[in-house]
Amino acid sequence: MCGIVGYIGSRDVPSVLLGSLWRLEYRGYDSSGIAVISNSELIVRKVPGKLSELEELIKRKPVSGELGIGHTRWATHGLPQENNTHPLLDCNEEIALVVNGIIENYLSLKDELEAKGHIFRSLTDSEVIVHLIEEHAGKGLTEAVRLAVKKLTGNFAFAVIKISERNKIVCARHDAPLICCYSEKEAAVASDMSGVVSIFDEVIDIPNDSIVVLGRGKCSITNFQGREVKFTRRKVTIAVKDIDKGHYPHFMLKEIYEQPKVLHNIVSERIIDSRIQLGEELSISEEELKKISRIVIQACGTSWHAGLVGKYIIEKFARIHTEVDISSEFRYRDAVLDSDTLIMAISQSGETADTIAGLREAKVKFLKVLSLVNVLQSSIHRESDGIIGIMAGPEIGVASTKAYTAEIVNLYFLALHLGILRGFVSRAQLKEHFSALMKVPEQVEQILKLDSDIKAIAEIFCNSRDFLFLGRGLNYATALEGALKLKEISYINATGYAAGEMKHGPIALIDHKMPVVCVNPRSSVYEKMLSNIQEVVARKGIPISVVTKGDRRTKGASKHVIPIPECHECVSPILAVIPLQLLAYHIATLKELDVDRPRNLAKSVTVE
Ligand code: G6P
Repeated sequence: MCGIVGYIGSRDVPSVLLGSLWRLEYRGYDSSGIAVISNSELIVRKVPGKLSELEELIKRKPVSGELGIGHTRWATHGLPQENNTHPLLDCNEEIALVVNGIIENYLSLKDELEAKGHIFRSLTDSEVIVHLIEEHAGKGLTEAVRLAVKKLTGNFAFAVIKISERNKIVCARHDAPLICCYSEKEAAVASDMSGVVSIFDEVIDIPNDSIVVLGRGKCSITNFQGREVKFTRRKVTIAVKDIDKGHYPHFMLKEIYEQPKVLHNIVSERIIDSRIQLGEELSISEEELKKISRIVIQACGTSWHAGLVGKYIIEKFARIHTEVDISSEFRYRDAVLDSDTLIMAISQSGETADTIAGLREAKVKFLKVLSLVNVLQSSIHRESDGIIGIMAGPEIGVASTKAYTAEIVNLYFLALHLGILRGFVSRAQLKEHFSALMKVPEQVEQILKLDSDIKAIAEIFCNSRDFLFLGRGLNYATALEGALKLKEISYINATGYAAGEMKHGPIALIDHKMPVVCVNPRSSVYEKMLSNIQEVVARKGIPISVVTKGDRRTKGASKHVIPIPECHECVSPILAVIPLQLLAYHIATLKELDVDRPRNLAKSVTVE
C-alpha cells in the first residue's frame, strides 16, 4: 500500500525524499507528493499519476527546505486526483501529514471535526488525522499526535511536520509498518528499509502502538500512553544493488532470472550434512511438531497458491491433514481449530493485513503459528512463534515470481522434515528428494533458455481477449498462478481451473479463439490431464502445453508446447511455473504495459 518517508538533515531534502519514494514506489503509484518546511513556510508539491511526474514538477518548480515528508499513494478512499494526494494539510496549512493505512471511524470523526469548523479538502479517510492534530496543536505536535491516535480505529502509520516546530518529524504506527533511523546530523523515517538504504546502515523497527519524535541526532519513542519505549538498532540487510533493476528493463524480468541463484541458495542452506536445516528461528520443538494433527495454511495471492502446493506435499510426505485458506476468509470464518492444529502464514512482505489478522486470530486461540516470510523483522516475522525464512531476497516487481518458487522449495523442506519426524519418509527417500531438489536451479536455467520461444508464443496470443489455464494435482496451483500472473500485468481475463472441474463450467468458454494453457508434466495425473486436453481440442480450443521434454503424446494434442526438464513430480510446480511467468511478462510488454506498476495493484497490501 502507500509508501511514506520523512527526512530531516543537511542533505538536499527534496532529493532525499524523491530518492526514497522511488524505492518505495512498489507500494503504490496512483499519485505522489512531498511537503517541505523552509524558512517558516510549508511548501507542497503533489501530482496525481506516476512518481516521474512529481519529479518533473519539482524540476519545474524547485523547492528546498530543512525537513520534509513524502508519500506515494495506493488509493483506498477517493480517486487519485490532486486533492486526495498526500501530504494532507490542516485548515491553516501549517501542518502536513502523510499516511499509510485505513481509518475505519473516519466518517464519525469527520462529522465531529466539521461541526467544530474544520474544512476538509479531500475524500480520503486519512485527512481526519491532520485535523485531529490541529485540534490539539496548542499542546505541541507530539502531544497533539498522542491525543489524535487515541481517537483512531483502523490501522495506520504516519509522519507529520509543523511549521512552528521545524526541528522534528513526529510519527506514529498502529498495525502498519514503519522504520526510522538517525545519526548525529540527520534522521529519517520510511515504510520500510528500502526507503533509507542509501543513507543509513542501521534502522530501528518502530514498535507497534508507539509515537516517535525524530530530529538531528535525536530519536525518542514512547507508547500511546506516553511511557518511554526502549529500542534497538539493527543492520540494514539489503544493498542498493539488490533493489535496483541492473541491466534488466523490468524488476519482474530481473526477478524471474534470479530464480536459479535464489533456489540454489535455499537448497544449499537447507541441506547441511545430509540433514534438513530449517533455520534457527523455527522455534517449535520436534516434540511439538510431532504432535500436530492438522495444519491450516492461510495466505493471500501468490503466497496462497504456494500454500496449495504445500498442502499436497505436506499431506503426501507427512500424512498431516492440511487445509489452505485465503486469509481474508480465514480471519472471519470462526474456523474449528483445536490445540493440535498448527497455523501457518505464508507471506513475502510479512505485512499483508489479512494474513496478519489471520495469524492474530490463531494467537487469540492460543495456537502456535509457524510462518514462512521473506521480509525479516516484518510484522508477521515478529508476531509468529516460529519462522522459516523464504530467502528470496528483496522482491520489488508487483507480480511475485521468485518469492513463489522460493516459498514452494521451503514448503518442500518443511514437508520432508515433518515426514521424517513422523516416520513417513525414509532416509533413502530423503536422499532421492535431495537429489531432485539439487537439480532444480540448473533445470530452471534450462527453462530460462527458452525465453525467445516463449516470447514467440506470446506474440501469437498477445491480443487474445481471454485465456484459460488448466492443471491437476500439484499443478492445479500452477494453473492458478499462471492465470494470476497474466491477469495482473496484461489485464487479460485469465481463469485458472482444476482441469477435472473444467467440464462443470469453463468448458462453455472454449471456442476456436480460446488459448488454453495446459500444465501437463509427467505425473501421477498425466493421463487424466491428457484427456482434459483432448476435451479442449474437441471444442476447437488452442492448447499451449507445458510438458516434460520428449513427451510426444501431449505434443501431438497441442498447438504449442513448452518443454521442461524431466523431474520428480513434486518439484514440477517449481519448474512448470517459470514458462508461465515468462509468458505473462512477454504478453504484457508486447501490449506495452507497465509490467512493474500494474494498474490498481500494489506489492504490499497493508490494508484489509
Ligand atoms: C499482493 C501482491 C501479490 C502477493 C499478495 C500477497 O496482492 O501483489 O504479489 O502475492 O499481495 O502478499 P504477501 O506479501 O503476503 O505474500
